[in-house]
Amino acid sequence: MIKEELEIRHLPKLLVSEDGTKVETVPQWEHRREEIVEILDNFLIGIEPQLKPHTEGKIERTDENAMAGKAVYHFVDVEVDTLGGFFQFPIHMILPKHVEKPPMFFYLSFEPALVNEFCPVEEILDNGYGIVSMYYQDIAPDTDSRFLTGAARLAPRNNFNSWGTIGMWAWAGHRVMDYLQTQSDLIDTNRIAVVGHSRLGKTSLWCGATDPRFSMVITNDSGGAGSALFRGKKGEMIMNLKHGSSKYWYCGNFLDYARNERQLPFDQHFVMALVAPRYLYVSSAEQDEWADPRSEFLGAMASNEAYELLGEKGLVAPDRFPVPGDTFHEGKIGYHMRPGTHFLSRYDWEKFMDYRKLHGC
Ligand code: GCU
Repeated sequence: MIKEELEIRHLPKLLVSEDGTKVETVPQWEHRREEIVEILDNFLIGIEPQLKPHTEGKIERTDENAMAGKAVYHFVDVEVDTLGGFFQFPIHMILPKHVEKPPMFFYLSFEPALVNEFCPVEEILDNGYGIVSMYYQDIAPDTDSRFLTGAARLAPRNNFNSWGTIGMWAWAGHRVMDYLQTQSDLIDTNRIAVVGHSRLGKTSLWCGATDPRFSMVITNDSGGAGSALFRGKKGEMIMNLKHGSSKYWYCGNFLDYARNERQLPFDQHFVMALVAPRYLYVSSAEQDEWADPRSEFLGAMASNEAYELLGEKGLVAPDRFPVPGDTFHEGKIGYHMRPGTHFLSRYDWEKFMDYRKLHGC
């Protein structure tokens, strides 16, 4: 059934190179992977400028007894020297005391505060994970006329393939990763999962897909230009992204495909396949029709081909569409469908942590 559903969507072929060669070996996949990144750079995200960043983190404030004394908190200033100028932004880092070198969640946050409605900090710490969080608008504002401020001022722009704000937010995520790599005496640098919800789920997907230092990539309710396939999608389409702040999330070339999604030179399984063979987690909410949970599920299913080529199991699921309460944790693509609406809930976090414990990732 799912195979037929995918066939009628007429997706561009993940495992056929631009010159028509079938991709069957690991070296062929590595070449194909580069082609895919180039396609996505030019037609979705926009090209990241060559900024040659050099990152340093400076701890500005520490609380040795945070969260009832169970955790150590650091407020860190991330300072980045680039060819386009100096850039800095703050992050929160909180580590449970009962685990030595904890695995981490790198959480892309809608709020400047560490504790907020989407991030149950204390529960996460109690489960033995540390959290680093970055407020996305500290990087580039998510409003109109932002191109004079934030990371946008580091490089000149054009209307075609210059990076949009999602590329900038993801770039800053890579700078956070630069910093985390220097913290191996405090955290498990081999187990860092990037997680985001909605527009920040689109961002976490790109951030993690393009940086192999993340062991796991979690994209929650990310919908259009996130985990949902555009071909055959319901709810939000490119036309809807052309308004408000979302018209700056991607590059100009992408917006030209409004009402013409079938001609896109990629679909979203291309993005998810870049995570292979690392751990990918796609979560959906039953009533999130704007994002379209069915298309999110099919997107994950369509990226299985890359995992299989690399000798891994991707999303292992029964041959039907998921129903609320379904959890598929067997393969290297984890998935669950939560009852309810568009949100990042405690339910979602519990599933992410169950999955990480099961796979040790
Ligand atoms: C809007 C937008 C979505 C986005 C969401 C969010 O609904 O259309 O693409 O995911 O905002 O970020 O909350």
